Amino acid sequence: AIDISRLRELTGYITLDDGYANTGSCTSAITFIDGEKGILRYRGYPIEELAEKSTFIETAWLLIYGELPTRAQLQRFSDLLTENQDLHEDLKHHFEGFPATAHPMAILSSMINASSCFYPGLMGPANRERFDVHAARLISQVRTIAAFAYRKSRGLPIIYPRKKYKYTANFLHMLFSDVYEDYPLRPEVVRALDLIFLLHADHEQNCSTSTVRMVASSQANLFASAAAGVCALWGPLHGGANQAVIEMLEEIHASGGDGRELIEAVKSKKGGRRLMGFGHRVYKNYDPRARIIKKACDDLLQALQLHDPLLDIARRLEEAALNDPYFIERKLYPNVDFYSGIIMRAIGLPKEMFPVIFAIGRMPGWIANFREILFAPKAKIYRPRQIYTGSTVRHYVPIEQRG
Ligand code: ACO
Repeated sequence: AIDISRLRELTGYITLDDGYANTGSCTSAITFIDGEKGILRYRGYPIEELAEKSTFIETAWLLIYGELPTRAQLQRFSDLLTENQDLHEDLKHHFEGFPATAHPMAILSSMINASSCFYPGLMGPANRERFDVHAARLISQVRTIAAFAYRKSRGLPIIYPRKKYKYTANFLHMLFSDVYEDYPLRPEVVRALDLIFLLHADHEQNCSTSTVRMVASSQANLFASAAAGVCALWGPLHGGANQAVIEMLEEIHASGGDGRELIEAVKSKKGGRRLMGFGHRVYKNYDPRARIIKKACDDLLQALQLHDPLLDIARRLEEAALNDPYFIERKLYPNVDFYSGIIMRAIGLPKEMFPVIFAIGRMPGWIANFREILFAPKAKIYRPRQIYTGSTVRHYVPIEQRG
């Protein structure tokens, strides 16, 4: 075993920051977070204002290019999204190779990466010339891929996007237009999903965005970098938490309890359980996105005249946790995932699609971060160090002498 007192001598002057909790990996002008105060701004604009007044696509432009678009810029962007909404016919055959049981995040990451094969000249600085088209293509096609993956997982035929629909309505059309008649295109439903996309659109150097930047720093192409982002997002401690929250609420509902047992189990730390949708590395206050989503959740359920018992359980859990010293001392509050799943359920999305919705929403943020690296005058490859804790030097033993 290594002698810890000899670490400096063995490794030199390397700072260890477990989980990068306090390490800035880059400078960025995209998103500002004040975790203590619960503030989130995209390009300086408060998330509350954007949630109220903007759309996902307008916000996507803002994140990527730094300013709110003019009418002409927004129109050009919308046109690019529409022109690039269809998948290459050969790419579509890939769907046939996935089992019906495949998690849609696995399909999403594979298909995004496979897209690299269809658009040559993507490596290194060459990416710059076609950046606008590739960025629009990715934002548009991630939605088409996600819808196709959903249809595949249900054994349903693919529905193609239509030019007449805007971004979010088109997604709902590809998912559901043969299942529900006019229901998915109700403006309240379209608006609620658009808001979810917008609220997920960027969040500073989280696990998936840092992954995208890490891959991009080697001058890998946009599709490869975004596919890596999807993989990083998939885990239950990150973008998979929205699915895990609903599973947790369903479990409480099925047991007939009110969640108190779960809170006690979480506090005991036995079994490693956590209150999913609670806590955040940066927010030590109420996540501002959770506040907006909670209200949107109430509004949508009311508009659709739906009653979801899971919402009652979530509210009770929140109240219990916010009054419990365990959560108070650790500054654990609901995060963006705590209520978003209830909206997605009301829209008719299955839980495996929740992280996919997160990925569609996060795409502009990943692209904006990719762009910062792509156009940086001096971008360095990401290459963190480590503190080595393995054996010191030892010598090869022939296999006959190893016992
Ligand atoms: N439930 C119960 N206890 C928790 C929770 C939780 N959700 N989150 C943190 N804690 C406790 C930890 O056990 C730890 O307690 P200790 O000091 O007694 O050891 C303390 O709070 C600090 O927790 P860390 O794990 O050190 O915090 P970290 O910043 O590394 O983790 C994370 C942040 C991963 C989000 C964590 O809060 C968590 O696992 N939450 C549940 C999963 C979740 O909702 N993820 C979505 C995050 S938002 C997003 O990605 C969009």
